[in-house]
Amino acid sequence: MNTETLAKINQWFLDYAQRFVKDGKLHPMKQLKLDHSQRVAKNCRAIAFDLGWNNEQVNLAEAVGILHDTGRFSQFREFGTYRDSDSVNHAQRGWEVLREEKIIAGLDEEKIILDSILLHNVKEVPETTDDNSRPYLDLVRDADKLDIYYVIHDALINDKLEDYPEITWKMSDMKQKPNPAVLKALQNRELISYTGIQSLVDFQLVMLAWLPNLSYAPTCARILERGIIEEMHQLLPADPVIVEALQEFRLLLEDRASSNTSISST
Ligand SMILES: [Fe+2]
Repeated sequence: MNTETLAKINQWFLDYAQRFVKDGKLHPMKQLKLDHSQRVAKNCRAIAFDLGWNNEQVNLAEAVGILHDTGRFSQFREFGTYRDSDSVNHAQRGWEVLREEKIIAGLDEEKIILDSILLHNVKEVPETTDDNSRPYLDLVRDADKLDIYYVIHDALINDKLEDYPEITWKMSDMKQKPNPAVLKALQNRELISYTGIQSLVDFQLVMLAWLPNLSYAPTCARILERGIIEEMHQLLPADPVIVEALQEFRLLLEDRASSNTSISST
């Protein structure tokens, strides 16, 4: 993607978000998604650069990052929640908005962008995913998770949940016992579905279980550099299953980060 097209996409996204301004301001939860999208785009760009992708590829990575949560704005306006199971699949919604707006229509990169948006939130990437789309999809999934760790930990550590309860679907108690099914899935090193979440502790465990499934070495390096594992240690209960997973995942990420090669299948 050339730099001019990327600039147009970035501008369109800002203009689109402006459509949701009411009484001169964007709802704080929508502002949060705008900020998140910009940080994810930055993460995409930086990771793609570290992977040695060329300029056009780095630009496309950034575009996928900025657009990945386009569906969040109308989702929140219509339903007042970011919980997909209570509203709409926000990835599907974003895919529809991009098609309706024709913002990427006719671009060579259209399919890569649409595939990456549509699949960015699935638990596991389907094996039938197009080979050209897969590296970008893996990248935005990594970059998105990297920022979700930041947003959730920032909210918990700095007591922001009272002001922004919808960040964690209005759950705020970190002292509850984990759902046994969620803990069991973690112990079996399985990916945990959002549907098993009954408390904020479970929400954190879902995020913990993402760690061994990150695709790219530069993402693993950033997880370690940003102290995300230490934050999880600080926030989660000292259950032996959790402590063991944290230790194992740290070693795994250290190993992957130092390899500095793509862990992605493509
Ligand atoms: Fe998303």
